[in-house]
Amino acid sequence: MSNAVWRLARKPPAGWPVAEDFRWRHEIIPEPGPDQMLTRTIYLSLDPYQWGRRRSGAEQPGDICHGRTVSQVVRSRLKSYVDGDVVFNTNGWQAYGLTGANVDFFGYMSPRKIDPQLAPISTAIGILGMLGLTAYAGLVVQCEPKPGDTIVVSAASGGVGQVVCQLGRIYGCRVVAIAGSNEKLEYLKTIGVDAVVSHRSAGFSEELRYACPDGCDIYFENVGGAVFDAVLPLLNDQSRIALCGLISQYGNVDGQDPRSRWRAVGSAVFERNRVSVHDLFVGNFVADYQDRFLEEMGAYVRAGEVQYLEDKRHGLENTPEVFAQMLCGENFGKTLMVVSEDPTLADAEGRQIAL
Ligand SMILES: NC(=O)c1ccc[n+]([C@@H]2O[C@H](COP(=O)([O-])OP(=O)(O)OC[C@H]3O[C@@H](n4cnc5c(N)ncnc54)[C@H](OP(=O)(O)O)[C@@H]3O)[C@@H](O)[C@H]2O)c1
Repeated sequence: MSNAVWRLARKPPAGWPVAEDFRWRHEIIPEPGPDQMLTRTIYLSLDPYQWGRRRSGAEQPGDICHGRTVSQVVRSRLKSYVDGDVVFNTNGWQAYGLTGANVDFFGYMSPRKIDPQLAPISTAIGILGMLGLTAYAGLVVQCEPKPGDTIVVSAASGGVGQVVCQLGRIYGCRVVAIAGSNEKLEYLKTIGVDAVVSHRSAGFSEELRYACPDGCDIYFENVGGAVFDAVLPLLNDQSRIALCGLISQYGNVDGQDPRSRWRAVGSAVFERNRVSVHDLFVGNFVADYQDRFLEEMGAYVRAGEVQYLEDKRHGLENTPEVFAQMLCGENFGKTLMVVSEDPTLADAEGRQIAL
């Protein structure tokens, strides 16, 4: 048996991912050394920031493509894990990976054990993971929503956006959701947003203004570009923005920093209307907020107060294609690859598969 692996083939020269950026390999499954464990990837998270790492050179040609994963321990030489445990880790775009001593992970993406009794294990790379924490940190911690506030959310049906929308509803706000397709807008209505607007509509700016008769108190920015241009005139005095991401700019090839340009576009309105702009980086919130977040969000998920739509795609070999689709809006919900069988799901006869 061999390990299937995607490695970065080159520093991507173009705006969006193409097949030539990645190399598919079959390699020897590594043996865990002392204080290491071998895990089998079950779910792989595909996220926009992975493209930023590749384009910036933070990920080098030849490196295994980075990605957060939910995995199962195959062989543990770590005292705190036993074979069969389900864990959150960062195996990346490969079927098997090592975790533990001398294996790099982002400082804030520490491996941890997952309790399959608490929630479906895939949520550890979604609503009960960094994406949920991003939504919570930006909306609840940075923007401090008050009942009656109008919140505008861009990329609202995506991994982060759908959580922001539902937190906004729980905190008593009026939620205006922006997304691309009718299918996404219909879904957003089912999770309780107050108004939906398509950024693909010819009358987008007018429709957004109509959806925000009292202006916008909080803007959760995932997109930038034309969507930001339409939100800008609606910002109320002392409104707040969580600057989470600018996905419309991630394919730019002009070499400019999208955040600096975004700030330049908004600066006159920010000053005139005393707008607080909060740069959001989820890694800054893990130490102080992750436990509180997991407790609060875990309770919402178990009580069914917060729904979570996942866009599960199958086959590690299809990862680059799905990654490019996600960046261009062809995902519907949180995008993740199903790399191998989830042992916590019931089989076709409804029997629970033993861990
Ligand atoms: N700051 C942090 O620490 C942090 C952490 C996690 C994520 N993020 C950011 O959060 C944002 C959302 O990430 P996610 O993982 O939840 O992705 P996602 O929303 O699940 O997927 C991306 C979505 O962006 C929308 N989009 C793409 N290009 C667009 C364009 N030109 N104009 C308008 N919308 C466009 C598409 O939705 P539509 O079809 O609706 O257009 C697409 O489905 C990204 O900007 C990401 O970088 C930041």
